Amino acid sequence: MEQAQQKRIVLGITGGIAAYKAAELARLLVKQGITVQVAMTEAATHFITPATMQALTGHPVLINQWQDDKGMAHIQSSRVADAIVIAPATADFIAKLAHGLADDLLSTMCLARDCPLLVAPAMNKEMWSNAATQRNVQQLIADGVTMLGPVNGLQACGEEGMGRMLEAEELAQCIVATFQPKLLAGQKILITAGPTYEAIDAVRGITNRSSGKMGYAIAQAAQEMGAKVTLVSGPTALARPLGAQMMNVSSAAEMFAAVKQHVDDTDIFIGVAAVADYRVAQPCTQKIKKNGGNLTLELTPNPDILAYVAALPDAPFCVGFAAESENLHEYAEQKRRAKKLPLLAANLAQQAIGADDNELILFDDAGEHRLPRADKLTLARTLLRHAATLYQKGKS
Ligand code: PMT
Repeated sequence: MEQAQQKRIVLGITGGIAAYKAAELARLLVKQGITVQVAMTEAATHFITPATMQALTGHPVLINQWQDDKGMAHIQSSRVADAIVIAPATADFIAKLAHGLADDLLSTMCLARDCPLLVAPAMNKEMWSNAATQRNVQQLIADGVTMLGPVNGLQACGEEGMGRMLEAEELAQCIVATFQPKLLAGQKILITAGPTYEAIDAVRGITNRSSGKMGYAIAQAAQEMGAKVTLVSGPTALARPLGAQMMNVSSAAEMFAAVKQHVDDTDIFIGVAAVADYRVAQPCTQKIKKNGGNLTLELTPNPDILAYVAALPDAPFCVGFAAESENLHEYAEQKRRAKKLPLLAANLAQQAIGADDNELILFDDAGEHRLPRADKLTLARTLLRHAATLYQKGKS
């Protein structure tokens, strides 16, 4: 988030029903510290009012080039912008962009810009698949414009198909990502996240309270920094981080198998999962019936996935986590040395698990580095910047 602060974007809204999502998008961007200047086509004002957008962004909305006394809004606003985002972008507006037309304020701003242009199409599936639209989209991509979506889904007209705009939250993620330094461009990162579930019988099991939030935040941050991410996740209620290759697993054995499958093609491995140290030696395939007496479960140790990866002859750069309930420094550094890790992030289990915020202490060969309390995505970005620096140093 800190990279996005002090950034200015022009949010261009064109005339489609998805314009209502632009209000939420503006709100999310402002919340992240981004200055948002809204510019609307005349058609867009029929779908959402400029008053709404002004209230959400704190800035008067630009609609036509004759609004300011010098008639130079298209130059001024696009020159100070770090990016222009068109959301929603109609088929008509995409056609204008592809052909360099500039017959209203927003299209003129796009033509006069010297910053990245991001376009989030929203239209009926037939309009999207029309050869003319596809030609125009290809032209925009060739011109270096970033396309955000669209996706397949239910459309305002009641039909289902390709052309639905990404949700505001997804767009906000993509926009913030463009401002992150691409420190991990092209690197392949394998991440484990979430809890594991070790079956006791057909319906019961041993698990823990890991929500996956820390691991998923690291996956998102790595994507933002240009990495190719594979996320091996135990059972969580979280949505797949946009663009990550996902491997859903349940037990530690499944997690281990998924990691083994991908580790040969990995530059950086990050073990964030709260892997069960033990599993039930003989899980029952049926539901165990109660008989009034005590029940003894025999537990057997699970393989240590991180230790296995770190000990491989051609091991990737390994980042471990340590969740401790006491003696954080001592136990964390012990774990780092035992597994010979270049970097380990330690946190207090009772504060970190399931929470939205966290505090981390990073341990590496140079000592310890405190990352103060913040949301997990902010911590993930700082952790990855640190990891990227160590990784690059190790390679040079
Ligand atoms: O998911 P959240 O709710 O966001 O919570 C985040 C978290 C607290 C789970 C996370 O920040 C964290 O600390 N993850 C590691 C939890 C853990 O199991 O720590 P550990 O000290 O037991 O394990 C040390 C390291 O070895 C970890 O990198 C772990 O992934 C790895 N490990 C452990 C056991 C095992 N069998 N295989 C492993 O790979």
